[in-house]
Amino acid sequence: MLRRVNFYSICIAFGLSVLLILAGSRYTDNTNYRPASESRRNIKNFLKIEDVDENLLQPIPTNPYDGSPDIEKILDKTRLKIKHELWAYNFSISGVQRLEDLVIESGGRPLISLIISTWRSGTTFLGEVLNAVPGNFYHYEPFLNYGIIQIRGTPESDKALKTIKKMFQCNYDDMEDYFDYGKNHWHQFSHNTRLWDHCKYKKELCIDADFTSRVCRLFPFQSMKVVRVRLRLIKQLLQDKELNLKVILLIRDPRGVMQSRQHRNFCQPAPDCWKPELLCADMISDYVAAGRLLQQYPDKFMALRYEELALNPSSTSYDLLKFLRLGVTQSVDEFLHSHTNIEVAGVSSTFRVSRDVPFRWRNVLDFNFVDEIQETCKEAMSLWGYRMAHNATHMTSKDFNPLDQYSLTQ
Ligand SMILES: *[C@@H]1O[C@H](CO)[C@@H](O)[C@H](O)[C@H]1NC(C)=O
Ligand SMILES: *[C@@H]1O[C@H](CO)[C@@H](O)[C@H](O)[C@H]1NC(C)=O
Repeated sequence: MLRRVNFYSICIAFGLSVLLILAGSRYTDNTNYRPASESRRNIKNFLKIEDVDENLLQPIPTNPYDGSPDIEKILDKTRLKIKHELWAYNFSISGVQRLEDLVIESGGRPLISLIISTWRSGTTFLGEVLNAVPGNFYHYEPFLNYGIIQIRGTPESDKALKTIKKMFQCNYDDMEDYFDYGKNHWHQFSHNTRLWDHCKYKKELCIDADFTSRVCRLFPFQSMKVVRVRLRLIKQLLQDKELNLKVILLIRDPRGVMQSRQHRNFCQPAPDCWKPELLCADMISDYVAAGRLLQQYPDKFMALRYEELALNPSSTSYDLLKFLRLGVTQSVDEFLHSHTNIEVAGVSSTFRVSRDVPFRWRNVLDFNFVDEIQETCKEAMSLWGYRMAHNATHMTSKDFNPLDQYSLTQ
């Protein structure tokens, strides 16, 4: 009897250890941050990049695909890369004499650009234009973890404005919510290409506040897009003398916004997203705020309609960069060349823009739906210079130009 019990306990113990070993190996698999197929892809990308570099005759001394785990080494390489990419940059355009004047680590103050907008209004494209400037650290959208909601006032705005300011100062302390969300949504970091270059190999680094701060403090230009905070609240940041901030409000025709949001499954349960009356009330509030900011901070605030950017991507981007005191570099021209005048393929994943993208709603939407939006959005559309379509034929006719003039200083 005793021997039998012993036999069974040995069997159970053996079974348990096998289970533990299996579970252990699975755990390691899950936390392995670089699956074989991805590393193969990276090698391919790397080769492609090498081909391009040969043509440019400008060897880049650092290797963005280097998965070095040594943080000091990563920081050294990043410093070198920024210096190298900006060696021919004319810093007087940015209002300073040298790179160090814009680098927090060296006691300087970076140039900061904040894009304020709402979902599906062209921020992906505009954000990428700014990120094409070498030496730019793209904070992306800091409030993904808030869900599909708009922040229109206190108390939510207190925390949100504090977060924006802290991020622009490269201070990521007490931002557990932000990093926790990122752990399951890596796209929160991947748009920040110059951070992602390193942390994609060692994802712990992406959620490491200290590492993020130290990398951030090396970059002379900082940009961020925010689609969840209304413009009226941003005044507080423009008043802040500690920040070297410029703000761009990006507005889009509500008919185009609603058409684009129809493709997205994130919208439907969230009234802030699918109700045109909320979108257009925000557009009116943004219009009033824009007029005031333009008066008070003419050199720090600018409003832009997405349709104008899409119709004239190069000249509008040049004007915008000039306003932001950013130089037009070869990389910006290359980006504009490769991402414009080509048919758009999908939704958010591609950010190609052509002349007809902003007006696609005219051929896709049912006139009854358009008419509903127009009725709800009459005032917002008239303030921002969007013309009404009178009927279905008119809506699709070549003679109908939805864009009218508008003025913020009435
Ligand atoms: C740099 O830009 C300034 C204008 O911001 C211009 O006057 C100057 O000539 C430029 N320098 C060079 C070397 O291009
Ligand atoms: C549609 O609107 C246009 C422009 O206002 C007008 O000329 C035309 O007669 C309208 N067509 C119909 C069928 O109502």
